[in-house]
Amino acid sequence: MSGPNTNYDPVEVAALDPAVIEAAVAEALGAIESAASIEELKAARIGVQGERSPLALANREIGALPPSARAEAGKRVGAARARVAAALTAREAELERERDERILVEERADVTLPALRRPPGARHPVELVAQRLVDTFVSMGWEVAEGPELESEWLNFDALNLGPDHPARQMQDTFFLDPVDCGLVLRTQTSPVQIRTMLERQPPIYVVAPGKVYRTDDLDATHTPVFHQIECLAVDRGLTMAHLRGALDAFVRAMFGEGTRTRVRASYFPFTEPSMETDFGCFVCHGAGTSGDGGSCRTCGGSGWIELGGSGMVNRKVLRACGIDPEVYSGFAFGLGIERALMLRHGVQGMHEMVEGDVRFSQQFGREV
Ligand code: DAH
Repeated sequence: MSGPNTNYDPVEVAALDPAVIEAAVAEALGAIESAASIEELKAARIGVQGERSPLALANREIGALPPSARAEAGKRVGAARARVAAALTAREAELERERDERILVEERADVTLPALRRPPGARHPVELVAQRLVDTFVSMGWEVAEGPELESEWLNFDALNLGPDHPARQMQDTFFLDPVDCGLVLRTQTSPVQIRTMLERQPPIYVVAPGKVYRTDDLDATHTPVFHQIECLAVDRGLTMAHLRGALDAFVRAMFGEGTRTRVRASYFPFTEPSMETDFGCFVCHGAGTSGDGGSCRTCGGSGWIELGGSGMVNRKVLRACGIDPEVYSGFAFGLGIERALMLRHGVQGMHEMVEGDVRFSQQFGREV
């Protein structure tokens, strides 16, 4: 009977033969060296370090050896695996460096090349001011109303109590559409939006209507044939001039700052009765009328007040023409030119800058004015 083989020689286990291990290492190092990319190295790693790699299999054989032989065999296999692992790490570092170098070349950016310059645009200050004013009223619960720029003569004039022979009809130099008897004009004011609104809906009505208007003026420092107005109309039970004053105050405060005061002077518009011209306290001299150097304030001309625009209680005739009973409802309205307000607020010198469309002009106002 033979006892356990205590003289077991690891060399006799084929997988643990030093020459076999050396050959496995040599093959592994060859595979690692010939991996030409990080992906190829990944595949090679499975072949030389994976569960079925020759050195992993050899490692498993160690367990079958008698205890006395395990240490030496373990050292040999461990050293072999360490060489393979070191080669993998070294090759990986090498391949990563090559990849990084390649990327630097392939994706090189020539920072000296002239760039495609796309200057940022800017919204026109007229638009910004209109939006700001509209926002003020919308935040108080008012709605935005619109009307066409090509308007019927009847809505632009007649319904607003400007009959064919009314002198005020001649005051607004009108673009008529050819043929003249077609009854269409380029609207001279945003007031026809009042009529459209009252014809379309029942009170209570609270609307704000910004938009383009047209007059046959030549372009000069203070005139332009196309400009913008903003119109406000309220129709409800029991509205009085006090409500009108409150709305005007909200308007000028949004435009010229908190604490700006208003005053009204008797005036005439066919569609309001009574009618008023609205002034607001000069935001430069705060009503004093004088400038810092003792002369008169240049913004308000020394009066302490600046003219804003027209306003009034909606004429009963206009309410009636729109099917609203003036015995039940009353209304107020006001309207003004946005360009003028903008020129005042920002000291824009002439109308030319405002209409030329040079983006550098708009950019000065940023996104907010
Ligand atoms: N539409 C008038 C104009 O262009 C301005 C105006 C005056 C509007 C009085 C109104 C108003 O709503 O009540 O001159």
